[in-house]
Amino acid sequence: MSHFSYRDGVLHADQVALDRVAEQFGTPTYVYSKSALLDNFNAYAQPCAGRDALVCYAMKANSNLAILDLLARQGAGFDIVSGGELLRVLAAGGDPRKVIFSGVGKTVEEMKLALSHQILCFNVESIPELHRLNAVAGEMGVTAPVSLRVNPNVDPKTHPYIATGLKANKFGVAFDDALETYRTAAALPHLEPVGIDCHIGSQLLDDAPLLEALDKLIELIDTLDREGIHLHHLDIGGGIGIAYGEAGESEPVAVGDYIARLFERIDAWRAEKHAGRAIKVIFEPGRSIVGNTGVLLTRVEYLKPGQEKNFCVVDAAMNDLMRPTLYQAWMDVKPVVPRSGAAHTYDVVGPVCESGDWLARERKLAVEQGDLLAVMQAGAYGHTMSSNYNTRGRAAEVIVDGDQVHLVRQRENPADLFKLETLLK
Ligand code: LLP
Repeated sequence: MSHFSYRDGVLHADQVALDRVAEQFGTPTYVYSKSALLDNFNAYAQPCAGRDALVCYAMKANSNLAILDLLARQGAGFDIVSGGELLRVLAAGGDPRKVIFSGVGKTVEEMKLALSHQILCFNVESIPELHRLNAVAGEMGVTAPVSLRVNPNVDPKTHPYIATGLKANKFGVAFDDALETYRTAAALPHLEPVGIDCHIGSQLLDDAPLLEALDKLIELIDTLDREGIHLHHLDIGGGIGIAYGEAGESEPVAVGDYIARLFERIDAWRAEKHAGRAIKVIFEPGRSIVGNTGVLLTRVEYLKPGQEKNFCVVDAAMNDLMRPTLYQAWMDVKPVVPRSGAAHTYDVVGPVCESGDWLARERKLAVEQGDLLAVMQAGAYGHTMSSNYNTRGRAAEVIVDGDQVHLVRQRENPADLFKLETLLK
């Protein structure tokens, strides 16, 4: 069910009219639905009920503290990629013992921070990283739990910028090198190999590549068992993609169906092993937890007819939402209060001084100056990827809870943006 729908001619987030939100908080503003967030989390949590499984929300998709808090209260763990993200989890009251730390470039400081908070696991991506982590853990007199991010070399069939598990990608350890790398990890005195993980890419609409990756991880777990390296968890990486609503786009597989198929394979493997080998399953979904929970609300500043194109200039820009220009991503744009009258074809662009500053191209819209538009499915990789380019303060963020609206991040004002800068004396 969509939490964003028209009622009495106005686009609403649950019971709140978006024109009211714009009036109260200004534009551009990200508007999230709390109930959509909880529904999405439950789509993962419910099929995992009664199983040894953990959903570690990939907070890079949206790391607002209020979102983290709501998810933590549902029992979520977190997939982090920086020390800064760990500090956010702590600030939101999340449990560091449910945190896994991904990323190819973990610094000594980040490792220390994560070890001091006893996170669940480091997803290690290279041999030099194993050595660094071993040294840091040794200095602190602790043992670091590690998992190796293995590159199953499965084609995720997604945009090349967000395919991450191929041989040509910077991520992970090659499948063929994994055994040797585990031997290295097991031989290091301050590391304990506890798991295996992978992440093959994002915005996967089909689960076949994920299940193919699963088979490869299982194969490795068996090989490692024979070596005397017994892993306790299997982390399958990110979640399923979402529907952005583009014409001709294929529907994403239902999360529940994917999880059912995944457990079916895992159960068959465990049954085949007479001891019924135990394994915890970890998921790291990001986009599918927050993507359709949010819209970017923006106001039309000008309509600018051109010789070749018509431009609808809005007050949100590429600095607020990078996805269109960075990935040529198609994102739906809806009028908050649809008007009758002739629709024209527009490129929806922002005020930033780049030709690449567009949010949508070639859209038929009946709009006038001052109208409000909503960029749909903008809850994931929206605000978190925003920047201050052109000294533009980042957008406000609000969460709708039934008929209530809560400001969860103030709009940045220009003075905030240069307060860390100094003049030469
Ligand atoms: N785990 C790891 C190690 C990841 O690198 C990612 C995403 C995830 C989990 C979450 O994947 P998801 O469930 O969201 O598909 N900015 C791009 C997406 C980049 C994804 C990077 N990694 C976009 O806006 O499409």
